[in-house]
Amino acid sequence: MQHKRGVSDTPPLDDLMEEPLSWNGRIRQFHRWTGIVFTATVIANFATMTQGTPPSWVTYSPLPPLFLLMFSGLFMFGQHYVSGRRTAVREG
Ligand code: HEM
Repeated sequence: MQHKRGVSDTPPLDDLMEEPLSWNGRIRQFHRWTGIVFTATVIANFATMTQGTPPSWVTYSPLPPLFLLMFSGLFMFGQHYVSGRRTAVREG
């Protein structure tokens, strides 16, 4: 296999550091984007409150993404201490 910037079989250093396909990287990316969804549902709550009491599906909409954040976050937290390679940390 050849890469753009070299002739060896070794992937470029930044690819190795980012580990784009690693399990941990995927969990971290999932956590990041679920955080955006969660934030949107919280904003939706405040926005609908300006029109009176929000419907209950709006009120409770932050809970599913919050649960996903909790599990993926606890996973990353655990990885940090369980794995000897400190893979939950991007640098260091
Ligand atoms: C609900 C419980 C949550 C737990 C247990 C949790 C835990 C964690 C952990 C352990 C990390 C990795 C920190 C590191 O680099 O070592 C992390 C990163 C992060 N968390 Fe959470 N988190 C939670 C909720 C949230 C929420 C509510 C948001 C946003 C609204 C959020 C947004 C983020 C972001 C953006 C990162 C950085 C991810 C990246 O590397 O880009 N988290 N969280």
